Amino acid sequence: MIPKVELHLHLEGAAPPSFVRGLARARGVDLAGIFDAAGNYCFRDFAHFLRVYEAATSVLTTPADYAALTAAVIEARAADGVIYLETFLSPDFCGGGDIAAWREYLAAIAEAAASAPAVELRAIVTCVRHFGPGRARQIARCAAETAGAFLVGFGIAGDETAGRPADFAWAFDCAREAGLRLTAHAGEWGGPSSVREALAALGVERIGHGVRAAEDPALVDELAERGVVLEVCPGSNIALGLYPDFRRHPVGRLHQRGVKVTLSTDDPPFFATSLEREYAQLADAFGWDAGVFAAINATAARAAFCDAATRETILKRLETAA
Ligand code: ADE
Ligand code: ZN
Repeated sequence: MIPKVELHLHLEGAAPPSFVRGLARARGVDLAGIFDAAGNYCFRDFAHFLRVYEAATSVLTTPADYAALTAAVIEARAADGVIYLETFLSPDFCGGGDIAAWREYLAAIAEAAASAPAVELRAIVTCVRHFGPGRARQIARCAAETAGAFLVGFGIAGDETAGRPADFAWAFDCAREAGLRLTAHAGEWGGPSSVREALAALGVERIGHGVRAAEDPALVDELAERGVVLEVCPGSNIALGLYPDFRRHPVGRLHQRGVKVTLSTDDPPFFATSLEREYAQLADAFGWDAGVFAAINATAARAAFCDAATRETILKRLETAA
């Protein structure tokens, strides 16, 4: 199996349905409505997906829950060939934005990661766009206080149609000043202007998704020239109805035009996917071979937010396998 570098994965979004059901049962919470008859997560559209995601997340209520989730997610990613992973964490869900509680959650997650060395894990705190800029400032303070070798980045996820990137500039400035590297979800539910605004107002070096930049050739050229890295999650976009299939997904064109694309799964059990599956479908749609995937993984390793020594180790492991 090709060794992989995955830069865009939401920890709660990677929770296996059985894991969430187990916690719900233990806590006496009725979550029946979020699963289909086969036991998989079910949702109608993006707005509904966010509600199902938040309902599933509601049963994760202690640092120990997050430690167990981290172990389960690492095991699944390792089975998918992932050797280096960056995961999004939200203090909104881990302690409700309280800094002391957040420290406990983060310590539990970091400890679980340290005892599962099959995957080198780093964390990126994300604020949630539809929770508003005030809350984002509080989340940025949590991130700034805990920045370090494990917590390496700051970003924003959630409903891209809520508010404007500039509303979140203070939060991103706070994170940047603490030494955190920056990424933002944009160009998923918003068009090219959303990507331009995220770059200009937030000063991010990576964009989560960013695929709708493909609608604007001048922006595509700008992304390629500036070397902005896109965290592309094709299966997520298709499952959420943004594109009908892999063949019509813009990742092929973006790659061809010289944009630095990387590949991730976003919330794999929600979208019934894995990176191995994504690669198979991309190989089928665009004729990409092992050399293309090796180059994309090297791009991802170079764009990783970890320290230089870890990056070199990851690049060497990729080279050895090539
Ligand atoms: N949170 C989890 N998955 C997401 C996605 N695809 N877009 C925005 N926020 C998310
Ligand atoms: Zn995402």
